[in-house]
Amino acid sequence: MTDLPDAAPGPRPGAAVKIVARAAQKRFPTRRGMVTAMESVDLEVAEGEFVCVVGPSGCGKSTFLRILAGLDHVTAGEARIVPGPDPTQPLNAVVFQEYAIFPWKTVLANVAFGPQMRGVPKREREALARRWLVKVGLERFEDYYPAQLSGGMKQRVSIARALAYDPQVLLMDEPLGALDAQTRAVLQEELLRLWEETRKTVVYVTHSIEEAVLLGDRVVVMTAHPGTVKTEFRIDLPRPRDLTTTSTPEFAALTGAVWEALRDEVRAAMAQGENEVAA
Ligand SMILES: Nc1ncnc2c1ncn2[C@@H]1O[C@H](COP(=O)(O)OP(=O)(O)OP(=O)(O)O)[C@@H](O)[C@H]1O
Ligand SMILES: [Mg+2]
Repeated sequence: MTDLPDAAPGPRPGAAVKIVARAAQKRFPTRRGMVTAMESVDLEVAEGEFVCVVGPSGCGKSTFLRILAGLDHVTAGEARIVPGPDPTQPLNAVVFQEYAIFPWKTVLANVAFGPQMRGVPKREREALARRWLVKVGLERFEDYYPAQLSGGMKQRVSIARALAYDPQVLLMDEPLGALDAQTRAVLQEELLRLWEETRKTVVYVTHSIEEAVLLGDRVVVMTAHPGTVKTEFRIDLPRPRDLTTTSTPEFAALTGAVWEALRDEVRAAMAQGENEVAA
């Protein structure tokens, strides 16, 4: 079964490089001098690949994602999305931990917002938004406002909105980080299903090793601040995956190996924090 091309993890053979980072560095001027958020990040992501990034708090994960999103710039090196052939297709959409949806717009209008920005006529964009709402199980809530929704529902709206925008790359920064464990598990399965359908190029930042191994084709481990890529793991668990994947010995071995690589970095980050408090 696992030798079917669709069940194989990782990019399709011969897939183009979609994201390139070479010696990407980011420094911020602060009152206490220059802070290096990212030291020298090297990473390539292939078209259609799902790459998860884990690393201790403050190692520069969000900084890296913001740079890929074009919201900030490197101070040396490069980090960019390689544009595809269709210049009208947006380069990226971002899903953050905090719900980045418009509180004054209905669920439907939120999801239709990206297509609206691209000039898609109203009927068409609403039909498109409805299709995405069905996929995330929110079709009965299209007239609701964000304040009337639970955290999990709001995050579903964010995900539907990002996908309705049809970006070349989906950038996700701890998108499920604020949710309770059960809601998070349900949304992990939904993300797996949506990704298997769309095969978008995804960079996904998470603090959960289990989540990274469950979702990703690859897990990149970053060092403590200032962050660089420490090591990476190819996740060759067969797809389609679901929560039962997490009870296999292969899954346990992979999460164990990732934790092994991450543990020293988390300790180093904690020691840095203690030094700062002492200073
Ligand atoms: N605008 C800024 N000005 C100054 N320093 C910044 C700025 N943004 C980030 N930093 C610093 O850069 C480093 C990396 O921050 P970043 O938010 O990218 O970390 P992170 O890996 O996303 O952490 P977390 O896991 O806690 O979200 C931190 O030391 C942070 O204080
Ligand atoms: Mg962050």
